[in-house]
Amino acid sequence: MEKLKVVCAVILSLGSTSAASLGVVQTEGGAVTGQNIPLGLSRSVDVFKGIPFAAKPGIFEKPKPHPGWEGTLKATKYAKRCLQVSMLQISSFGSEDCLYLNIWVPHGRQVSSDLPVMIWFYGGGFVFGGSMGPNFFNNYLYSGQEVADKGNVIVVSVGYRVGVLGFLSAGDSSLPGNYGLWDQHAAIAWVHRNIRSFGGDPDNITLFGESAGGASVSFQTLSPHNKGLVRRAISQSGVAFCPWALNKTPRKIAEQVAQKVGCPTDDRMVACLKTFDAKTLTMAAPRLVQGSPDHPAVKNLLLSPVVDGDFLPDQPGNLFHNAADIDYLVGVNDMDGHLFTLKDVPSLGKDKETPVEDVKKLLAAYTREKGQAGFDIAFSEYTSSWGSAPTQTAVKKTVVDIGTDYMFLIPTQTAIYLHAANVRLGHTYSYLMSEPSLLAGPGRPYNDWVGADHADDLQYVFGKPFTTPKAYGDRHRDLSGHIIAYWTNFARTGNPNKGNLKVPVIWPEFTSTGHHFLDINGNITDASVNQEMRLRYVRLWASTLPSLPSQSVTVAH
Ligand SMILES: *[C@@H]1O[C@H](CO)[C@@H](O)[C@H](O)[C@H]1NC(C)=O
Ligand SMILES: *[C@@H]1O[C@H](CO)[C@@H](O)[C@H](O)[C@H]1NC(C)=O
Repeated sequence: MEKLKVVCAVILSLGSTSAASLGVVQTEGGAVTGQNIPLGLSRSVDVFKGIPFAAKPGIFEKPKPHPGWEGTLKATKYAKRCLQVSMLQISSFGSEDCLYLNIWVPHGRQVSSDLPVMIWFYGGGFVFGGSMGPNFFNNYLYSGQEVADKGNVIVVSVGYRVGVLGFLSAGDSSLPGNYGLWDQHAAIAWVHRNIRSFGGDPDNITLFGESAGGASVSFQTLSPHNKGLVRRAISQSGVAFCPWALNKTPRKIAEQVAQKVGCPTDDRMVACLKTFDAKTLTMAAPRLVQGSPDHPAVKNLLLSPVVDGDFLPDQPGNLFHNAADIDYLVGVNDMDGHLFTLKDVPSLGKDKETPVEDVKKLLAAYTREKGQAGFDIAFSEYTSSWGSAPTQTAVKKTVVDIGTDYMFLIPTQTAIYLHAANVRLGHTYSYLMSEPSLLAGPGRPYNDWVGADHADDLQYVFGKPFTTPKAYGDRHRDLSGHIIAYWTNFARTGNPNKGNLKVPVIWPEFTSTGHHFLDINGNITDASVNQEMRLRYVRLWASTLPSLPSQSVTVAH
């Protein structure tokens, strides 16, 4: 039997006269070749790794065009990630020379043409991250191969500057900031100019990203600089309204960095900062410190985009006319806040007791601007189903809900409502991912009831249940296949239900009257179509609390 299989495989591979491949591709910078990976019968993917889309950027400068190269560039190795601090923040790694992208092009018997294009932006809080992601059982998390092959789309992943080099801003034109967003924009423009040579359709470009990458996607759709370049966008667990996504006090951070390297903080600050090398500046980022219920760590994520009057000419809420012709698919994981609240509120851990005091402290920290009145209203909303003696599960879930709502879910709803209210040609789709965390359950580190945690969606979007099947069950393969179907159909047609791949149920469009969303997990049925996601809490955070007068806050340190 085994022998017969081998013989058949040999005959079939001879019969298919080797799969199609692009060979040498001409780009504006010069010629490139990639690697052709055969995938079963008459299918293959051409992979190009490390193509420069801009020159090595100057410190605190916008990206500039790449000067080009002689001969043929062998694009078979990922470029280094953009210079960043290590997880422990005691060293840095990566390179200043990091504006490179990777491309996956699927082929059938013939070389592809006019394929939809999906451009991926990684997350990492605007301080970490790379376009290949972490290495996951010997394959990179953000490998575009499964999405490209299953969905018959081109996948591109790009590098952008992070941390001090990507986002330091003095809050004025001496150091405007948003360098990482300009990098992303340069990558989008490069893809628009060059992707036809790779078999892509420059008029069918979809951006997608998660966490800070999802917020990046949101900013790119709101900026007037991408007019005509972007057709559709997917934000997973991050939009411009997330409290960690937009820095409202950039000058403060710039002064902290200046002090750390010994620069004055007056009008000599920027000139002084520019005399330092990239590594020193990167390491001068404010340390991300361990959070506590009174001082949640999310409040320290401050090297992020700013309203600079150029890339973002105004507050995000006033820029949705720029996204009116863009189809937008947006959502969150139902426990996106779990990872973060578990760090801020250690008593949340398995087999520990969470005192109600911890719930109060966390909620007070998030509602601080609205004083006692804001806290009281919020607390009564979140405890309305507690009864007189809430179980530990109820108390703990409430902490996670508060964190999820504040950091991800409510800001995402704000973006969805505004997009739907401003669309002309565009359409809006909303989802909630609710597949339980693989770390939850008996004998595992998380509480049994933990749902979809932050970043849990990534493994399914990138098809890991197919590439590392032993780590997953059939339910996870169903989920991954369905997400890839909805995502790539959306990239192809602007409608997640229409395209090359079958979907389990019709996902209705989000409109200002219907407020539909799809609950995405390993068992998608008619019951997965729902309406008005957490409306009670959307009202609380987006309407009731903002209408209260702001307190003058004395920040305790
Ligand atoms: C995008 O792709 C769709 C489906 O292949 C095609 O009908 C359309 O013409 C393409 N271009 C634009 C601008 O939509
Ligand atoms: C899937 O969900 C439906 C309800 O929508 C339920 O009846 C069914 O039991 C679920 N199946 C599994 C395997 O969980």
